[in-house]
Amino acid sequence: MSMQLSPELSLPIPSPLGEAAYRAFQWSKNIFGFAHKALSTQASELMLSLLSDLQALSSGKSIPPRARVGVSAATLQILRARYEQLLQADWQDAEAGYYPHALLFDNPWLDFARHYPEVWLDLPQIARRVHGKRYQEFSEDISTEGYPKYYLQNFHYQTNGYLSDDSAELYDLQVELLFGGTADAMRRRIIRLLKDALDPTLTSPHILDVACGTGRTLRMLRGSLPKAALYGLDLSAAYLRKANQLLQELPGELPQLLRANAEAMPYADATFEAVTSVFLFHELPGPARQNVIHEMSRVVKPGGWLVICDSVQLLDSPELEETMEAFMHTFHEPYYRDYIRDDLGERLQQAGCEVLRRETHYVSTYTLARKR
Ligand SMILES: C[S@@+](CC[C@H](N)C(=O)[O-])C[C@H]1O[C@@H](n2cnc3c(N)ncnc32)[C@H](O)[C@@H]1O
Repeated sequence: MSMQLSPELSLPIPSPLGEAAYRAFQWSKNIFGFAHKALSTQASELMLSLLSDLQALSSGKSIPPRARVGVSAATLQILRARYEQLLQADWQDAEAGYYPHALLFDNPWLDFARHYPEVWLDLPQIARRVHGKRYQEFSEDISTEGYPKYYLQNFHYQTNGYLSDDSAELYDLQVELLFGGTADAMRRRIIRLLKDALDPTLTSPHILDVACGTGRTLRMLRGSLPKAALYGLDLSAAYLRKANQLLQELPGELPQLLRANAEAMPYADATFEAVTSVFLFHELPGPARQNVIHEMSRVVKPGGWLVICDSVQLLDSPELEETMEAFMHTFHEPYYRDYIRDDLGERLQQAGCEVLRRETHYVSTYTLARKR
């Protein structure tokens, strides 16, 4: 169960105490995430080398060891500084009232504890797929019909990609581990951009979160804009089921969830005051990226807002090139190499939007654009 964002919990916590608690909470997630990464990487490498040895024994050929891609001390220092800035900005935005302090501690602990052993139990399967270079593998009981080809991938080597309930159960935990506990803090960076942009006289703005996944961003939007009419769209039925479960825990109106391809959204033109999207574009090939941006622009009202958050790119963070390389090496992300060289601003302009802000926070980049 996640922490409930009840009105009592959104009461201000005394600042110095609250900030210390917030930092301790983030640090614990950070340490756990990095310890997990170190141990699971070692275990995976061991399994991969065993599989290579077995193959070499049976084929009589020696198999070269898999190259290691790490990051230098200089890059680690940049990441550490960016991490500190992220926490500071997150805390300050809660202090400034952009979102309730309770959001900073909204963590599904029990869910995470329940699913953590499964992360380990999945490792041998993942090692076999990595060893066999099988990145588009789905169980027989999973129907892959009707999905775009680019979507049928074991993104991050996830078993059954986005198409199973097990994958949806593990996803939030895996992302938390991957980002050392900063995934939600990075998602929250869209809130200030969005709230500053929205017309404050609107009591119930209509906001769509594209590729909402398990609903983490919608949860934050519900906490920070309690009266907004929220909508979420995703291609995965399993992820939407999980989102529905998590969003039902919150007070207020349930966001309307819809399963559809973001390249052809079943909404009328000019439906929303704002459209958001978090961590989607790096998982799309270039033409699909453009189609989704066109659709986001089509369904937003003229003068309305688009807020996109995704991985940093070479354009804005060339100093993190090593981190981007390591990410590509460690996870199956077939469109990432192209994504980090892509100009989303140019794509937004082609779709009739004006880019007003670009920001980077930790390992994510944020674009705020306005529909002309
Ligand atoms: C990396 S996850 C991000 C999920 C969520 N926004 C978050 O912050 O965790 C990518 C999501 O994009 C969805 N997705 C990918 N391609 C899509 C498409 N063409 N249309 C709709 N959803 C898509 C996937 O199902 C998945 O839930």
